[in-house]
Amino acid sequence: MFREVQRFLGESWADFQRQFAGSLRSDIPLLEKANRFLLDHGGKKVRPTFTLLVAKALSGRCDGQVIDCAVATELIHTASLLHDDVVDKAQTRRGVPTMASLYSPTTAVLLGDYWLSKAMALLVDIPDKRVLHIFCKCLGDLAEGEMIQQERAIKGDTTEENYLNIIYHKTTSLFEAAMLAAAYGVDASVEEISCVQRYAYHVGQAFQMRDDMLDYSPDLSLGKPTGQDILERKITLPLLSLFACAPKSVSREIRRRMKNPDAEFVFDVFTQIARYHAMDYAQGRLEAEVNQAIEALAPLPGSQAKTHLENMAGQMAVRTA
Ligand code: FPP
Ligand code: MG
Repeated sequence: MFREVQRFLGESWADFQRQFAGSLRSDIPLLEKANRFLLDHGGKKVRPTFTLLVAKALSGRCDGQVIDCAVATELIHTASLLHDDVVDKAQTRRGVPTMASLYSPTTAVLLGDYWLSKAMALLVDIPDKRVLHIFCKCLGDLAEGEMIQQERAIKGDTTEENYLNIIYHKTTSLFEAAMLAAAYGVDASVEEISCVQRYAYHVGQAFQMRDDMLDYSPDLSLGKPTGQDILERKITLPLLSLFACAPKSVSREIRRRMKNPDAEFVFDVFTQIARYHAMDYAQGRLEAEVNQAIEALAPLPGSQAKTHLENMAGQMAVRTA
């Protein structure tokens, strides 16, 4: 699906790919080697796909500034994952060892800083300061999201409201910046900006909800170990769904044991999730978010790009990677 959209974006996508790879050349051998590894094991590039597609849907074009924003978005995303794998002490990502495990946590953090600096170098040259503002807000949100998540994990008592706030900060804020930057780049109207913001909000929330469901889905989750969130004491959509579906006594017991999780506890939670059909409940919650994203696009005129935006939102509910 993402590939199909990237093909539709044609030359704009090729420009993005070239500029993204080119922005990471370095004369320092360690940087060059680490960057090469990260480029070779990159992800789906979902966020820059949205950036270019939003620009196409609003104006039919993707010019240099929009491509710069798409590159900055992917650079920031990669930097945040480098830092996140240190925070989470993750050994693998996308089925390959993390930078922190291949080199060291220090190297991973510095590499993240480097990618972040490359993103800022692109953004600072864009005359429309709304772009720099939205990305700076997002950087603050990413760090705040991680902090709120840690705070809730230590307390062990995340509510649904806390959860929605955490995922907005740690994930949605970058989707929002990626798509608003595109809208600013093509001089979108106030109404169009508001449509894009609503769409980005629901897509971002849905993306992270699906990510959190994959952590409970050993059959679907490719390249990532499952049950990690429970071990890190993170209460996410599947557990919140279990609390909504199971009797109070079950929820109370799980919340109590959540403060001291181990592999046996993960097994027990997975059993209760299956017993009370909590994943179906979670999927319903996720699909409601996707529907709201699609509805947000209603005022935009019909086009192939808009259809792709609708399908991309739909993909958030079913993606397995
Ligand atoms: C992945 O979440 C992590 C994020 C979406 C954000 C991480 C942000 C930071 C560590 C703050 C630092 C920010 C910058 C700009 C360098 P996850 O752990 O739930 O997902 P995962 O399963 O993919 O690891
Ligand atoms: Mg992580």
